[in-house]
Amino acid sequence: MSLQTVEHFLRPGTLQLGALPPLALYVHLPWCLKKCPYCDFNSHEKRGEVPQMRYLDALRADLEASLPLVWGRRVQSVFIGGGTPSLFAPESIAQLISDIRARLPLEAGAEITLEANPGTFERERFKAFRAAGVTRLSIGVQSFDDGALQRIGRVHDAAQARAAVAEAAEAFETFNIDLMYALPGQDVAALQRDLDTALAFEPPHLSVYHLTLEPNTLFAARPPVLPDDDSASDMLDLICERTAAVGLQRYEVSAFAKPGHRCLHNLNYWQFGDYLGIGAGAHGKLSFPHRVLRQVRWREPAAYMQQALDGKAVSNQNEVARRDLGFEFMLGALRLREGFELSRFVERTGLPMSAVQPALDHAVTRGLVEHDLAAGIVRPTVRGFDFLSDLQAIFLPADKA
Ligand SMILES: C[S@@+](CC[C@H](N)C(=O)[O-])C[C@H]1O[C@@H](n2cnc3c(N)ncnc32)[C@H](O)[C@@H]1O
Ligand code: SF4
Repeated sequence: MSLQTVEHFLRPGTLQLGALPPLALYVHLPWCLKKCPYCDFNSHEKRGEVPQMRYLDALRADLEASLPLVWGRRVQSVFIGGGTPSLFAPESIAQLISDIRARLPLEAGAEITLEANPGTFERERFKAFRAAGVTRLSIGVQSFDDGALQRIGRVHDAAQARAAVAEAAEAFETFNIDLMYALPGQDVAALQRDLDTALAFEPPHLSVYHLTLEPNTLFAARPPVLPDDDSASDMLDLICERTAAVGLQRYEVSAFAKPGHRCLHNLNYWQFGDYLGIGAGAHGKLSFPHRVLRQVRWREPAAYMQQALDGKAVSNQNEVARRDLGFEFMLGALRLREGFELSRFVERTGLPMSAVQPALDHAVTRGLVEHDLAAGIVRPTVRGFDFLSDLQAIFLPADKA
């Protein structure tokens, strides 16, 4: 990224951002043992050894080329996601974290999350990941039921999942379990058993996602039989009841946390914060006083490594159009139980409140959000949470609605 480009992003424009938002760093590690049939993340089946050293070199080059865009800004959180980052050796993760620390000023005590799969050899590395500087582990359990795990094509079994969570609880003060529900062959009783098992570990954070059939996946091509909408809705009710009963607050549509254990990195996404995204296919969002920039890196790992080492990791970047900013802000902000402050909207989008006022009024009239005038806060109602995509769609620009 040349300095000329940076000046280009700093030039005057029609938006007036009040202040630059907090900055986070996302690092994508794109390999997995096996591609899951429902997954549309940028993950590639590992053939032979993962080229860890070359990939770390590429990440370092990518980061260095990006520095002018975030000059002088501190980083509040780092998320090492995938793919399966736990396929990287703890020494490689330690190297990665020290490469980051050498180039970007991290806030004291910054949250550093690593996504891990629950295989046996990954589990044996958890303590070493902690020693490498990871502060928070996110384990992709999905289910504790052998049948369900097989039907969704996972390589781990229930015993490995339980052992991995037990190990994470021992090695980390804070960790997350990812579960999915509405799985093929799952009924409410089976989900109840998954929740019982998960909650027995007293996780400080739980993420529970409704399995979705994403285009361009094996499941989209050959869909399994899934629970009907009524059962899925009963399952969600059960998830909300059971988590609330143990003090896990649903602070975002799919995220539940004990006090003090919310994921700061993800909160920053939902609050329209900034993030630099490095690694294959990583997305980034960076603000400047008069514009918001989105970036994407080369998706295919070999191409990414080559391009990043040549100083050209970014495959695509564009300024968010003024008319899209309101919707983009709402996409994340309305996922949050506590909603957002109106002053935040103005500060982070650089738009006046009038840009979304008619849509906001419409959402209030439909009972999907409530507007606390005294506090200057807008938050989704229970109904708004239940019909989230309808609510978000209210904010689409006229030409896309
Ligand atoms: C980036 S993924 C990868 C994490 C890790 N590799 C794993 O799968 O164990 C993060 C989470 O997204 C969720 N996820 C992935 N594909 C999904 C889908 N099609 N529908 C719902 N949730 C999905 C899973 O719970 C997964 O743990
Ligand atoms: S392990 Fe995780 S990232 Fe990899 S293919 Fe499966 S769901 Fe996707």
